[in-house]
Order: sequence, then structure tokens, then C-alpha cells
Amino acid sequence: RSQEFQTDVLVVGTGPMGATTALALATYGVRVHVVNRYNWTANTPRAHITNQRAMEVLRDLGVEQEARRDATPWEWMGDTLFTTSLAGPEIARLRTWGTGDERIGDYLQASPCPMMDLPQDKMEPLLVKNAVERGAIFSFNTEYLSHEQDASGVTVKLRDLPTGREYQVRARYLVGADGAKSKVMDDAGLEVEGQLARAATAYVLFTADLTRYVAHRPSILYWMVTSDASFGEIGMGLLRAIKPWNQWIAGWGFDMSKGEPDFSPEEVKRKVRALVGDPELDFKIDSTSVWYVNQAHAPVYSSGRVFCGGDAVHRHPPSSGLGSNTCMQDAFNLAWKLAFVVKGYAGEQLLDSYTLERAPVGAQIVKRANQSRLDYAPLQQAFRKAGTPDPLAAGIDELADPGPAGIARRAALAEALKLKNYEFNAQGVELNQRCVSEAVIPEPDATEEVWKRDPQLHVQPTTRPGAKLPHAWLVGQDGRRVSTLDLVGNGKVSLVTGIAGQAWADAAKKMDLPFLRTVVIGGPAAQDVYCSWHAVREIDEAGALLVRPDGVVAWRQHAGVADSAQAREELEQALASLLDQK
Ligand code: FDA
Repeated sequence: RSQEFQTDVLVVGTGPMGATTALALATYGVRVHVVNRYNWTANTPRAHITNQRAMEVLRDLGVEQEARRDATPWEWMGDTLFTTSLAGPEIARLRTWGTGDERIGDYLQASPCPMMDLPQDKMEPLLVKNAVERGAIFSFNTEYLSHEQDASGVTVKLRDLPTGREYQVRARYLVGADGAKSKVMDDAGLEVEGQLARAATAYVLFTADLTRYVAHRPSILYWMVTSDASFGEIGMGLLRAIKPWNQWIAGWGFDMSKGEPDFSPEEVKRKVRALVGDPELDFKIDSTSVWYVNQAHAPVYSSGRVFCGGDAVHRHPPSSGLGSNTCMQDAFNLAWKLAFVVKGYAGEQLLDSYTLERAPVGAQIVKRANQSRLDYAPLQQAFRKAGTPDPLAAGIDELADPGPAGIARRAALAEALKLKNYEFNAQGVELNQRCVSEAVIPEPDATEEVWKRDPQLHVQPTTRPGAKLPHAWLVGQDGRRVSTLDLVGNGKVSLVTGIAGQAWADAAKKMDLPFLRTVVIGGPAAQDVYCSWHAVREIDEAGALLVRPDGVVAWRQHAGVADSAQAREELEQALASLLDQK
């Protein structure tokens, strides 16, 4: 390592993107320095829903159990409620985040990790603490000002805010994880396409014990169908459990053409009491804030030695809970590539695959999150009877009507709820990403993937190059269950084969590469006693896969090879192609 560089990677931002990048790089043994202009990490709960792919990132980085300790467990994420107020008559429930009887098996089968709910102001410190313990350097109260790049590195100008002192750090690479108003993006000449601030929501964080209203029907989201909060695309108020059941966020859409919402204590009290349905409710207002609905994404995430990720490149509303989840996966995709290039295992062109693989995901989730807001329209119609003086009251009354009008309204409600599965049970949206780039080697006679079920709702496990390695439970030497995902990752490329694929294992042993490990499924450390790997592997037992450190299948060979010499030739070719080794 040249002394010219004070760090290998400089990261701007300690949000989910920056903190995950730092944790992964530090775990892989890469020098990383992270700056944040604030005194500490996120000061409000913000993102919370952590989906299975993000959980797998935490698991690979060895912090899953620590994260779960502070999180609301999956079972409690449960029944999303639509009600007139917490105390008032309930209208509908939707079993969500895969916890319903009809979906729970899909979620259990797809990943070793159940979902959880961990607010961002708990997630970020956890990532930062572990990154620091593994050697990452963090500078808070440090503002990124500008950068200049040349052929060998990036010179980044920073300001130490308490003293005002400006100084420079020389790094090989710069990561812009500086959120939705990214200056790194602007300075690198990268752009987002779309619309910013197309709607707005008011948020109030408050402390009140609401156990009596919710403990018997646990959920993290309660929607209030009330004229006290009926503005905008969603047209409902929200009560979101932050610390069950004592800390909450109340949210409602407001008309931004009329300026900021009224956050006077009297108005906030009135609103929260109306949503809870308790005119006497005693509670403490912790903070108030406003956030805007964006619909924008960047077609290109990098410029030379500068790589952006997270909200810097995809900006969208929280509906579907895709924000921090996608940030963490951007980070996981980028970090191993940076590590492999810094360590000299891979050529620099490997880094080009970051945009190619992540930009389509960014575009997809921006669309999905905004569509999830628009998909409230049929629900709004089911709750409202147009042409009456009080459409909401008349609509809710009619939902109890025994006659044809009631029958029709209840049928419309059922249909409208079904549509919300695309927000609340969209396991396919969360898990079905496919990477297409030079860092994935297409099969010579590959045909287009055929989706057997709705790809937004249902996950489709496959070992096709570009997909994440399917999860299957195996049994290790100690008799405990171990996931296929536990045997790969950890910063290495994995050669995965079966007992009949000894030639591959022999070849890999002879190659003796520091970044390559061999996983023999069926061997003592990974017995396929449930035959579940057999069911999903889609290759012969003597075939082989190369799995990248982020768990994505890079290459697959259906059949066995004649001997270890042939195996070595094929492996060398595949690795050279994957890692751009000239
Ligand atoms: P983020 O904005 O978090 O961090 C940016 C970092 O850069 C900060 O540390 C900041 O201080 C730093 N920074 C910026 N400029 C700087 C400069 N010039 N110098 C130094 N530092 C600088 N997502 C999800 O997955 N599930 C969910 O349920 C929700 N819910 C949700 C609710 C609400 C109300 C909001 C507003 C958002 C969500 N989200 C969400 C979205 C989620 O919060 C968002 O996607 C992530 O915070 C984005 O993470 P980033 O790391 O990209 O940026």
C-alpha cells in the first residue's frame, strides 16, 4: 500500500449506506475513513422495516443477533390495521410482511433470516460501533466540501466543524453516501432523473403508553380512516410503533401548496388524540418533522473513482419499506468489489459492474414505492361514498349495510386490500433482484428466466448466474442447522459443489487463492440431510457454482468435469472473467 493514501476508501455519510459500506470494508480488512457533518448518527427513527435481503447482509457481517436484540420481532410486525381510530371501530386488517398463514412458509423457506423492525436511529449506531471495532475510522462534525480525482486517487476536501479547519484526505476511492441532497453526486457530475417533493407528510414522534389499544393486535403500522387525516394519495393517518407500545410516530399528508403544517402543541395534541381516539390522552411530543415524497433515480452511480449509493441515487417515499434496505444492499454490492480491487485480486473494471447491477434495482424500487402510494386509491374509494355531505362517514356506514350497496362496498374493499399485498407482502420485490453485468458470467445457452408466479409477490429461488444463492438448510458437523448462505460470503468467492464434484475441489485446492474457498455440500460440514439443496440446486451433484462474496451466483456449470485439470482450466477462466484479471 502506498503511503500516498491516508485511506483506501473515504465514505461521506453514516446513514444505512455509509455505515454498511464502512462495516463491510472494515470486515474485509480495507482501510476506510467515514465522515459525517453531524455530531452523531440519525436523530429520528426514520427507516425501520428490515427485509430479508438486508437481514442477510447483517448476518454475513456478523451483526444479525445484535440487531435483533433491539428490534421489534417479525411476529409483532403483523396485522396492518385500517380503523377509524385506535379506540374506534375497526374496518379491516391485512396480514403483512409475510406473517399471515398463507405466506409465512414462503418467507421461512426463502431465507435463514426473518424480517425485523429496527428504527434507523438504532441501526446506524450498531453498524458504526461494529465498524469501529473492526478498524474503520469515523470523523463526526466533519463536513465534506469537494473532491478532485486523478488517475490514481481522489483528493477530498473536508472541514472540521468545531474549529473550522479545512484539510484534505487522499483516498483511492470516494463513496458518496450523503443522502437525498448528495453533494458528492453533484460534484461528480452525476444526476438523478424524476420528480422531487411531489407530495408531503407531517410526522410527530411522541411518547404515550398505548398498550391497551394494540397489544392484543400487534402491528407496526395502524392506519386511521378519519376526516382528521384524509389529505393526499394515502388519505389516512398513520400511527407507527417505534418502541412497542410506548413510543409512536403519528403521520398525515398535508397540502404543501399551503406551506408547512401547523405544528403548534395544541394542533398536534388535537391530531394525535383524534388518531388514537382518546380525547383525554396524555402524551409527550418528542419531535415534529416534515418529509417530502420524491420519485427520482440516477441512471449512473459512479464516475471514475467516485461511487454513490443509497438515497443519493434513489429517492422515494417509505411505502413498501425499501429505502434503507436498498441502501444496505447497494453497500454490500459495492464493498467487496472495492476490497477486491484494493487488495489486487481484481482489475478496476470490476467496479463498473456496480452501476450496471444496482441502477436497475434503484429504478425499480423508486417506481414500486411510489406505486404503493397510488395503490391506496381503491381503498379510499371503498371508504368513501361520493356525492354525500360527509363521504367518509357515509362510506363507513355503508360498509355495514346488509343490502346490495353494502355487499358491493365490501367486495370493493376486499379487492382494494388484495392490491396492498404489493406493498405489504411483496417478497418478490424484495428478493428477486437479478444482476446483469460483466461480474456475472452468462451461461452459453441460457434462455430467458420464466417466472412461475407473480414476480412481485413471490420469490423465485434459482442458481442462475445473477441471482442470489438460494437458501437451503443443511446440517453441520455439530448437528446444528446451517444455511447455504452461511457457507459462502464473508468476503470470499466460494466454489460450491457436491460430493461427486471432487475434481472441482481438488482444482481449487491446487490453485490456493487467498480469496477462494470451497464448499462441498454433502460433506461433513454441510450435510444435505433434508435434501433441500438437492431440490433447489438446478445443477448436477458434480456440477459447480462460483458464488461472489455478496452471495450472488457468478457462474454455474451444470455437469461434472473429466478431471481436476479440466476443472482448473474452467475455474481459472471463470475467475478471470468475473474479476477482470488481465
Ligand atoms: P441518509 O440520508 O440516511 O444519510 C446521509 C448521511 O450523509 C448522513 O450521515 C449525513 O449527515 C451525511 N451527510 C450529508 N451531507 C454531508 C456532507 N456534506 N458532509 C458530511 N456528511 C454529510 N426505508 C426503509 O427501508 N424502510 C422504512 O421503513 C423507511 N421508512 C422511512 C420513513 C421516513 C419518514 C423517512 C424519511 C425515510 C424512510 N425510509 C425507509 C428511507 C430511509 O430513511 C432512507 O432511504 C435512508 O436513510 C437513506 O440512507 P442513506 O445512507 O443513503 O442516506
